[in-house]
Amino acid sequence: MTRTLRYGLIGAGMMGREHIRNLALIPGSALTAISDPTNAQIALSVAEAERVLGQAPRAFANHRDLLESGLCDAVVIASPNDTHVEILHDIFRMAPMLGILCEKPVATCEADCAALEAAAATHRAPIWVAMEYRYMPPVAELRRAVRAGEIGTLRMFAIREHRFPFLEKVGDWNRFAERTGGTLVEKCCHFFDLMRLVVGAEPVRVYASGAADVNHRDERYAGRVPDILDNAFVIVDFANGLRAALDLCMFAEGAYFQEEIAATGDAARIEALIPGPARFWPGGTERESEIVVSPRAPKGPVRRKIHVDEQVLRAGDHHGSTYFQHLGFRAAMLDGGKVDVTLADGIAAVRIGLAAEQSAREGRAIDL
Ligand SMILES: NC(=O)c1ccc[n+]([C@@H]2O[C@H](COP(=O)([O-])OP(=O)(O)OC[C@H]3O[C@@H](n4cnc5c(N)ncnc54)[C@H](O)[C@@H]3O)[C@@H](O)[C@H]2O)c1
Repeated sequence: MTRTLRYGLIGAGMMGREHIRNLALIPGSALTAISDPTNAQIALSVAEAERVLGQAPRAFANHRDLLESGLCDAVVIASPNDTHVEILHDIFRMAPMLGILCEKPVATCEADCAALEAAAATHRAPIWVAMEYRYMPPVAELRRAVRAGEIGTLRMFAIREHRFPFLEKVGDWNRFAERTGGTLVEKCCHFFDLMRLVVGAEPVRVYASGAADVNHRDERYAGRVPDILDNAFVIVDFANGLRAALDLCMFAEGAYFQEEIAATGDAARIEALIPGPARFWPGGTERESEIVVSPRAPKGPVRRKIHVDEQVLRAGDHHGSTYFQHLGFRAAMLDGGKVDVTLADGIAAVRIGLAAEQSAREGRAIDL
């Protein structure tokens, strides 16, 4: 018999609704509670839950009331970046048996990372940081091929993300680095997590160059122009001698593939090519991702499409990854499955992002 896991959603905005749609695809998921200080967002998310899950979660204006309600076995935190730390500390204090799936970035500054590490030690249930790029099926295939030695010994790992600008958010929280941690934390912690995972080592040095050159230049918030970077190059050196690079451009939504990820070994290169969200592409159609394997000999790249269930693609903007992440989280909650992305992983990715932001600001390499 399918067991039921009762979820609470803290932060019921765009990403919160992606979580709701993905839970609806997983039998045994109940959404029992939602907390959000914005009534309009609660209304949208309750309506989404009724539409896709056939359930009306109880709504709270404050996450502490949700925690006190006892309605949930686990919570998904999908509130703005700078609210995650306070919510996590409240959960550690008030609900030590509650499972946690916390959206990235888990924190936005070094002081909060250190405090979280200490406070989480007493938590008795899984804490999982939502870094779902590793679950995109083409990325999972790239990871498998690298692990299996199909490209020889990995030497270089390069991630290009060329995409659409930051979307408008509730209360415009994503327009200033003080609330997001900066673009290289907010957006790119995903990629730094993937680098650590694929390279299999910890970073020792970060060099970055980036600027806010094109997007949001004509916007004003209380008279201030947004300061979030919209393009950057970041190089990360790892303790095992491998190097990785990120090429981020947020005014390149015309590119067919949004992410182009390449792992190059001494025998071959493998690339994962991933289209962006269907809702931003002409016609709104889902597009397939591809894997390209390019051996040094015999030459002749081998290209193949990676199939992902259309329903899973349609549930979100992240090429199915949120669904696969939820399967893992559910297994960690119910069957003692492994937590793939621990709090320590989430913090490690934030620290690389913070170092990259500092490097771009100061024009020098940062040792970690
Ligand atoms: N994993 C991913 O790929 C991915 C993608 C998008 C967003 N995110 C992350 O998800 C989080 C939410 O992003 P979004 O795009 O949904 O933003 P959003 O602005 O659409 O939604 C945020 C919601 O949180 C609410 N909120 C604000 N303060 C709150 C609090 N203290 N408690 C509860 N709710 C609160 C807001 O009213 C809003 O409804 C962010 O941390 C973001 O970085 C992750």
